[in-house]
Amino acid sequence: MSTESEELLNAWRQSAEYWSKHRATVRRMFAPVTSAIVEEARIRRGQNILDVAGGPGEPSLTIAEAVGPDGAVTYTDAVSGMVETARNEAGRQNITNISFLECRADGLPFSDDSFDVVTCRFGVMLFSDPPASLREMLRVTKPGGVVVLAVWHTSEMNPFLNAVTRAMARHVESPPSDPCAPGAFRFAEPGSLVALFREAGAENVQERILSFKIEAPIAPSDFWPLRVELSDTLRDKVQRMTPAQLAVIESEVQEEISQFFGESGMSFPASAIIVSGMKSTI
Ligand SMILES: C[S@@+](CC[C@H](N)C(=O)[O-])C[C@H]1O[C@@H](n2cnc3c(N)ncnc32)[C@H](O)[C@@H]1O
Repeated sequence: MSTESEELLNAWRQSAEYWSKHRATVRRMFAPVTSAIVEEARIRRGQNILDVAGGPGEPSLTIAEAVGPDGAVTYTDAVSGMVETARNEAGRQNITNISFLECRADGLPFSDDSFDVVTCRFGVMLFSDPPASLREMLRVTKPGGVVVLAVWHTSEMNPFLNAVTRAMARHVESPPSDPCAPGAFRFAEPGSLVALFREAGAENVQERILSFKIEAPIAPSDFWPLRVELSDTLRDKVQRMTPAQLAVIESEVQEEISQFFGESGMSFPASAIIVSGMKSTI
């Protein structure tokens, strides 16, 4: 494994405890994206589904309920801490038609043509080798089966993600990030993931913009820890700031995000891109 991909996975290993801590909130926040994936893939009872990079358990667990007892889900993630959280969550919810495996997306340990549908929510833009990962997802999909991917649309469309980073950039020198490097907005331009997926061999590739709300019953004061803890980049930046810098940035963020909080908690407008493609039948 290259040093770069090992470093990326190490960052995720360090994030796993926070994704475990916030798993219920994450589930609520991205439930509309899970619904869009289930709809796009036309997931139905009895199917055999692979979910790649399932993090603390979604969309795997929701899909396991959708396919019912005659169907099955295989959850995968490259980080053992994530796998453990997802497995515990399945136990807590008494979901039994799911199995768990620690593996990388660019080396899926399954035979060719194994799954009716392969899903990946907010994963592919973070991988060290997206083309190889897309080829792997297609390889293990049955001919005529579909792969459905969710990635973030642009930063401007996603104040949940950019409120903290913009406030930090105003106070701490932040070199512009490489748009092609692993990161939330790597495939934010419509068409970019579509092109890569076609090159990987997918047929009938489609994309649609999903406008949704990131909602969860949390207080404005919960936003900063939630946002910073879930991101290794932000945790790292916070550690390198002075207490005075942090106080200013936190207060600016609180002011900016107050518009997205009401009586029932947070409600941020958000935008994702849902890309789907079919495995060739030839
Ligand atoms: C943003 S989280 C998304 C988790 C989950 N799908 C969700 O939507 O809540 C990204 C996940 O990708 C996993 N990951 C990162 N690089 C990976 C790779 N090369 N192969 C498999 N999983 C990877 C991380 O461990 C993390 O759980």
